[in-house]
Amino acid sequence: MYKLEEIIKQFPMLDGSKTMQGHPLVFLDNASTTLKPYCVIKAIEEYYSDYTANHHRGDYDLCYKVDMKVQEVREKVAKFINSEVNEVVFTSGDTESLNLIAYGYALDNLKKDDVILLSLEEHASNTLPWYRICELTGAKVEFVDLEDKKITVNRVKEAFNKCKNIKIVSFAHVGNVLGYEIDAKNIANVVHEHGAIFVLDAAQSVPHIKTDFKDLDVDFITFSAHKMCGPTGIGALIGKYSLLQKMSLFKTGGGMNVKFNKNMEVIPLDAPYKFEAGTLNIAGIIGFGAAIDFINSIGLDAIKEHELELARYALSRLESCKDVVIYNKDSNSGIIAFNRAGVFAQDEATLLNSKGIAVRSGQHCAKMIDEVLDTIATVRASFYLYTSKEEVDIFCDNLIKGGDILDAYFSK
Ligand code: ALA
Repeated sequence: MYKLEEIIKQFPMLDGSKTMQGHPLVFLDNASTTLKPYCVIKAIEEYYSDYTANHHRGDYDLCYKVDMKVQEVREKVAKFINSEVNEVVFTSGDTESLNLIAYGYALDNLKKDDVILLSLEEHASNTLPWYRICELTGAKVEFVDLEDKKITVNRVKEAFNKCKNIKIVSFAHVGNVLGYEIDAKNIANVVHEHGAIFVLDAAQSVPHIKTDFKDLDVDFITFSAHKMCGPTGIGALIGKYSLLQKMSLFKTGGGMNVKFNKNMEVIPLDAPYKFEAGTLNIAGIIGFGAAIDFINSIGLDAIKEHELELARYALSRLESCKDVVIYNKDSNSGIIAFNRAGVFAQDEATLLNSKGIAVRSGQHCAKMIDEVLDTIATVRASFYLYTSKEEVDIFCDNLIKGGDILDAYFSK
C-alpha cells in the first residue's frame, strides 16, 4: 500500500505552513523541480556541520571520509541506473551532461553535412548544445517526423531511410511538455543498426520510471538530481565506458589529471574522473545519494502507479469541463498539458497562483513545441510521489470554476 501520509510528512514544504497568495500551497510544478525531503536536507547539513573537507585532496581522515561518501554515491547512482560505477560522471545536471556529450564527443566526431536527429519536442538543453556543434562543425540538425505527437520507432527508421548521414540521435526519454515516453530500447536498436549513437535525455524519466542503462543499450543517459527530490546543481552523465574513454576533455583543472608539465603535456585521469575538474559539488552529491535512497525506499513502480492514478483521476474530473483543452490525454505520465479556451496560458497560471496552485505555463523551455501543438503556450500541471488526491481536487475545482482572469492580478 502506498503510504502517502507518511511520505508527505517527510517534506518540510508540505508541512501545511506554506502558502501562496494566502492559500495553502499546492505544488504541481514537479516536472520543473521537486521538493526535498528531510533526509536529503539532513545529509547535506551533516556534510557542512560534521565532516566538511575536500575530496581527493588530503591525507587526513575527514578527507578520506568525503572520498568514501562520493564513491558511495557513485555506486548508488550506478546501481539505480544499472551502469558500471566508472560509467557515472558527476555533472551539474542534465544541461551540463548534454553539453559534455556535445563538446566531448560530437565536436570531434561530426563533420560537415553529418546530421544530428532531434525532435521538435526537445527542451533547450537537448537542442541548443547540438545547434552550437553544428555551427562549429558544419553538421546539420534534422527533426524526426512525429506520429500523433509521438516519436515512434517507425518514424526513426524512416528518418534513417531518408537521410544517410545521421550520426547522433538525441531524444527525451519522457517529454517535458506532453509526458510521452519513447520506446528507447527499440529506437536504440535502429540507431545502432545505422552506426549512429543514441543519447537519452532522461531528466523526466529517471525520477519516475525504472531506467535501465544496460537494458536500453543507449550510449548516453543524462539527468538531474533536483527533479528527483535531490539538490539543485548536481546530476549525472552515464556513458558507455568505451565512449567516455575516447571523449575529449571538456573542463580541465584540478582533480582530473595525473600530471602536467611545463611543456604543456597533460596526462588526464581515466573516465569518469577526467571529466570532473575542480572541486565537485560534494554537498550536492551527498544529497543526491540521500535522494536515491529515499526514492528506493518507496520504489519506482509504486511512484509511477501513484502518479498515473492521479493523472487519470484529474482527467476524469476535467472531462466535463468543455472549455479546458488537454493536449496529452493519452500520456502515460503524471503530466497534464492544457489550456482554457480563449485564455492565454500565463493568465491561467496566474489565476491558479492566486489560489495557491503552482503550475508552469509557456513553452517549458521546449520552444518549438508550438509546431507540434498549434498553440504558442500551454499550462502544465505535473504530479510527483507526494502529490495528493486532495491537491488534485483543489486544482480541478479551480480549473472547473474558472474565474475572471483580472481577479488573479488584482485580488488578494
Ligand atoms: N525542463 C524543465 C521543465 O520542464 C526546466 O520545466
